[in-house]
Amino acid sequence: MAEVVVETEHLSMRFGGVVAVDEVDFKLRRHELLCLIGPNGAGKTTFFRCLTGQHRPTAGDVWIGGRRTTGLPIHEVARMGVGIKTQVPSLANGLPVRENLWLSARRRHAPRAADEQVERLLTELGLQAHADQLAGQLAHGVRQMVEIGVAIASDPWLLLLDEPAGGLTHDEAERVGQLVRSLNQRMTVVVVEHDMAFVRSVAQRVVVFHQGRVLADGEPEAVLADARVREVYLGSKVR
Ligand SMILES: Nc1ncnc2c1ncn2[C@@H]1O[C@H](COP(=O)(O)OP(=O)(O)OP(=O)(O)O)[C@@H](O)[C@H]1O
Ligand SMILES: [Mg+2]
Repeated sequence: MAEVVVETEHLSMRFGGVVAVDEVDFKLRRHELLCLIGPNGAGKTTFFRCLTGQHRPTAGDVWIGGRRTTGLPIHEVARMGVGIKTQVPSLANGLPVRENLWLSARRRHAPRAADEQVERLLTELGLQAHADQLAGQLAHGVRQMVEIGVAIASDPWLLLLDEPAGGLTHDEAERVGQLVRSLNQRMTVVVVEHDMAFVRSVAQRVVVFHQGRVLADGEPEAVLADARVREVYLGSKVR
């Protein structure tokens, strides 16, 4: 089996009396493409933010690439070669798409190489026609693609995406799904996602969160057919 590249041990995050993440033990191996799902308020985003360094967990530990990263801020985690797309938009609205991608590529590449990287990304993401548009003026679907572009511009080995298909049309979600599968050829990927069609078509492995704990973990077909998983979704999301 491939090496473990992300691990949590008894990871917990409380907000006052709310236990959002409750002693989660988790392992991710190199080359995996994992989807994290669960009903609203299950703790997915909180868990994700503990991995990315947006939250300092109240208990337990996180290891990424063999290094203990518990409490490291997000820019330090990113510098370890981790690409992050948060649920909250991160683009500079007043700058064109090309510039947004370039600034991210520059974190890893010299200026000339960053130029080349931006051209590669525009092609890979199908964004050539939008290269000179201001990020603040993009349609939602295009914007999501640019957000992913910014997350991968520094050639991460680990990609963490919170709701990349959120608010997309069926066709747009399918394109993001194809992109994520293709990125998985060269990166280990974790995706937090609500859209079940997306999860079914993309995931190799699905982890279901419920009340801050892992309710189920396994191959998509088995997990989505699990009676306990269907129950927590009350038939509303698992179809
Ligand atoms: N910054 C915060 N302050 C206080 N409580 C929070 C905070 N963030 C999350 N929570 C609470 O923690 C619990 C888990 O929330 P979280 O956002 O992680 O769920 P989620 O699974 O991502 O839900 P969704 O599907 O709606 O995005 C919820 O009860 C939420 O209200
Ligand atoms: Mg969330």
